Amino acid sequence: MFLALLCVAQVQAPPPVDFVKDVQPILRAHCIECHGADKQKGDIRLDLRSEVFHDDKDLWVIIPGDPEESLFLELMKLPADDDDSMPKNEDSLPAEKIALLERWIKEGAKWPESADRAVIEAAKKREMPRLEIPEESRVRRDRVLAALQKDRIPAGRLAVDTDAVEVNFSLQTKDAGDGVMQRLAGLEPCLTRLNVSRTAITDAGLQTLASMGELERLNLARTGIGNGGLAHIAGLKKLHYLNLFGTKVTDAGLVHLEGMKSLRKLYLWQTAVTDAGVERLQKANPELRIDRGGYAEAITKLAQEQAAAKAAKEKAAKEAKKGLNEKCPLTGRPANPKFVAEHNGKKLAVCCAKCLAKVKKDPAKYIK
Ligand code: HEC
Repeated sequence: MFLALLCVAQVQAPPPVDFVKDVQPILRAHCIECHGADKQKGDIRLDLRSEVFHDDKDLWVIIPGDPEESLFLELMKLPADDDDSMPKNEDSLPAEKIALLERWIKEGAKWPESADRAVIEAAKKREMPRLEIPEESRVRRDRVLAALQKDRIPAGRLAVDTDAVEVNFSLQTKDAGDGVMQRLAGLEPCLTRLNVSRTAITDAGLQTLASMGELERLNLARTGIGNGGLAHIAGLKKLHYLNLFGTKVTDAGLVHLEGMKSLRKLYLWQTAVTDAGVERLQKANPELRIDRGGYAEAITKLAQEQAAAKAAKEKAAKEAKKGLNEKCPLTGRPANPKFVAEHNGKKLAVCCAKCLAKVKKDPAKYIK
């Protein structure tokens, strides 16, 4: 009898669903491919708590404690052939997995902060080039790095467990021209990140980079680089990120980038490229995310509009106040020009709706 009771109790109250053990594996297996770090279909990310429970609560797809209101669950329960069903264009999740997610939401959709940290760490690791070079290359690399460091140029390995190296000429060597590129000789097998932004390098200087086959990130922002320079880097097979902000690059230069299939992020703010040129490149590399900026201007414009609207409002308030009393005679507080009563052509401003009602009841008493 006692045992039976114990069993019933156990059936009725299973242990709460554990996010890391129970929920995260389901999301990873069925959702993250389209709603994670690489892709955010429908503008939705389901791999980070900070993304799922973002600032705009009205747009949450998981409502803690309320499975019925959670779009996340609703889309999973649709028949697989429904256009809106998730996972999209795949079989529906098995009923027991959906039931588990439902219970998790009902129990408050607990999502520990530490789970986010693990995801971010893993992403960093994935981003980190795991490079290994032969011992003689290491010796040479370390000599080059030491010489750069001696001149206070940020240069070094990305982490202790990789031979990959980054160099940043952008800070210390404003006047540096193409000569700085010669200093990279010896880093061919391991240079993965290079920043030469704001330096005086020219198209000819980029010739050196043709031999830097491991290069993944290249920042050329605010240099005098033009289309000719891009021809030199067109053969870099691993380049992932390219920043051309404020350079002289035009559509003709973008053509050089069409064959760079590894390219994923391209910054083109303040360049002379056109819609047609960008469209052409996008067609050649649909996975490339092209950022042309423009929103800096948009933000400035918005701020200007807001400032203008505020000034207009203040002006209108001042106008409205003109000829009105400054203080509410009933309370002594500042009068609000929104609350004005009239009597025999004379006006009286008060501080609030309550006072206004009082005045309107017996205007002759207050307005003399
Ligand atoms: C193969 C890609 C793919 C997979 C896998 C996938 N989704 Fe989606 N999801 C999409 C696309 C695309 C959209 C954008 C809307 C649309 O096209 O239906 C979307 C949109 C959504 C939306 C927002 C809908 C809206 O109207 O705002 C939610 C919620 C969602 N998915 C949940 C999930 C969940 C939960 C899973 C895993 C069980 C999942 N998705 C798996 C592709 C996918």
